[in-house]
Formats: sequence, structure tokens, C-alpha cells
Amino acid sequence: METCIKTGEEAIKLAARLIRQGETVAFPTETVYGLGADVFQPEAIKKIYIAKGRPSDNPLIAHVSSYKMLERVAVNVSEDAKKLMQAFWPGPLTVILQKRENVPDAVCAGLPTIAVRMPQNEIALRIIEEADTPIAAPSANSSGKPSPTSAGHVFHDMNGKIPLIVDGGECSVGVESTIVDLSVEIPTVLRPGIITPEEIQAVLGRVELDPTLLKKPAEGMRPKAPGMKYKHYSPNADVIVFQGEQADNLLSYIQQHDNGKKVGILCGVEKKAAYESPNVEVILPIGRDEDAKTMCKGLYEGLRKMDEMGMDVIYAEALPVAGEGIAYMNRLLKAAGYCVIEI
Ligand code: TXA
Ligand code: MG
Repeated sequence: METCIKTGEEAIKLAARLIRQGETVAFPTETVYGLGADVFQPEAIKKIYIAKGRPSDNPLIAHVSSYKMLERVAVNVSEDAKKLMQAFWPGPLTVILQKRENVPDAVCAGLPTIAVRMPQNEIALRIIEEADTPIAAPSANSSGKPSPTSAGHVFHDMNGKIPLIVDGGECSVGVESTIVDLSVEIPTVLRPGIITPEEIQAVLGRVELDPTLLKKPAEGMRPKAPGMKYKHYSPNADVIVFQGEQADNLLSYIQQHDNGKKVGILCGVEKKAAYESPNVEVILPIGRDEDAKTMCKGLYEGLRKMDEMGMDVIYAEALPVAGEGIAYMNRLLKAAGYCVIEI
């Protein structure tokens, strides 16, 4: 199959037509690029799982362009859910609600609940509107790889597997939406994003964090979002998270452990100069340390670039676990298989 990359009005119209015809299409959202298909066509949904190589027990997020459309996929929407949607939609927030019975099991991997969000991206909203159906869309990467934040990333992973990529430039957020489970007694964050637990607390008065967000899931401990249990966001290179300020210690660690390997460092722009050393091939600033949001935005792009440059090992700077830093550390720890060193 030939994969086209298109932009503008023509791309939106074509995308909507392909979705209606039961095809898959990659399109931009404010978080990451999604690989979409019509929620109500199980054969089309199957194509998403095949193109990504995604395990079939990992459910998808339904994207809607209006509250009216939400009613086609969810029932018994609680007051808490309404408050959150009002505060953050359109935007990088996914809510877990009770699913409407006629939503095919393939979308929700057999769960009685459904994940729904209204993206804050004109192109995405237009495609959903034109297709006139909720669009199920996971991130448009090969399963296990960092999510794509540009059309080029999607092409790298999906070339030959899908008919169309709608190019809307770089994603402004760079990490996936915050997922909040509202089908349980106490609203619970299942995946952190740039909408922070503090912001959700401010709207609902209460919120819990899934205990597995920053920890390697122990035996018998299952994250509530099935997708969070898999090896995820991983480039080909080994990733090691480093915590601490002593650049010299990091550099001597690298000297001891990575003789003859190609080593790259991902860090805040403030730190770039401190890590310069003959043993480090590439130092890539991905944002600003004091603004976790900027580090979130640059993370996946940074991981992918390191692979392109053929690095064997990537050392990536840790951030404090607060605010958007929770989302950054959640993704980074998974990419690193929870390998952390103190320097
Ligand atoms: O920002 C985003 O959310 C992006 C863009 C494309 O919208 N999408 C995205 O989809 O990140 P995906 O498939 O990569 O992640 C969906 C996550 C998975 O971890 C999945 O397990 C969880 O949502 N999920 C979906 N339905 C669920 C449900 N009913 N209950 C719990 N978790 C669910
Ligand atoms: Mg994903």
C-alpha cells in the first residue's frame, strides 16, 4: 500500500472519506498523531491493531467533535465527568465512561467502559465532523515505540501500512492526554498528561493517582489502563534516567560503563554545556528544566532523534515529580524500563 502525506482542505476531505469507507488514517491532534478509524466499523478497527502491531487487549480512545457525538458512545455521564469536560474540552483530557452497548467490543477490548476525548486541534475536529462518526485513535506509532509528534514520525513507523497521513505540523503538547477514570467511586488518573492532578483536584475537589504511574508494576499489580502495562515509548537505544546535579559524576559513570559505545544525553537547555565530554557524542536539549511542559513536548522527538543518530545508550535527565513533571517521568521511566541512576 502506498502511504500519502497530504495537507489542507483536500487532506481533510479525503481523510473523512477514507474513514467512512472503513480505512485507517493518521491525523494530528494537539498531543500526538493518532491513527484513526470509524468506531462503528469493527473491520476498520482491526486494521488499526494490525498496522500498529498492538496487543488486542489494549483498548482505544474514541475521539469526538461535539457533546452530541459523545452520546453515541457513552451512557450515564456523571456530574464529575461533565465538570471535567467543561473545564478541559476540547483539550488533552480523556475520560473513562460507561460505554454504550452498541459500541463494538474491538474498540474497548471487551471492557464495559470507553475512553473518550475531544481533541483541541482544528484538523482533527474537522475530520471527525466531516466523517460524522466518533473516531477511535491510538497514537500512530508502532506499538512500543515513542508516540509520533510529527507527520515524519508517523511515516517512519507506518509507511506502506496505511493509505493517508494528514500533515498538521508539530504537535503542541507532545505527550498523550491525561486519562481520568470516572467509572469508579473516586476519580482516578490512569495516565498523567499536561492537565495535572492539581488541576483536576481544583475542579472535582478530589482525585487519586493510579499507584502504578511511576513504579515498575510489581507482580500482581495491574495498571487500570491496560496500555500502561506494556513496554512503551522505547527507542532502539538503551535509556537510562539520571537523577541529580553532579555533571562530573555522570560523565565518570559514562566513562566507566560505556566504553566504545555511542552515548547521547537528553537534558534541559540550561545543562547542555555541563555535559560536554569526549565520551558523549550528542547532547540534545529537549526543553527547559524549570518548565516540565517544554520537556514533555521535546521528549519523544528527542528519543527518536537519538535512534536516527545511531546512539547505543541515551542518558535522560529526571525532573521533579510534580505538575507536568509527573507525565514526563511516567513516559521516561517506561522508556527506560525503570532504569534510574543517582549522580
Ligand atoms: O493523546 C492521546 O490520548 C492520543 C491521541 C491520538 O488522542 N491517543 C492515545 O491513544 O494516546 P493510545 O491508544 O496510545 O492510549 C490509550 C490509552 C491506553 O493506555 C489504553 O489502555 C487506555 O488509554 N484505555 C483505553 N480505553 C480504556 C478503558 N476503557 N479503561 C482504561 N483504560 C483505557
Ligand atoms: Mg500509544
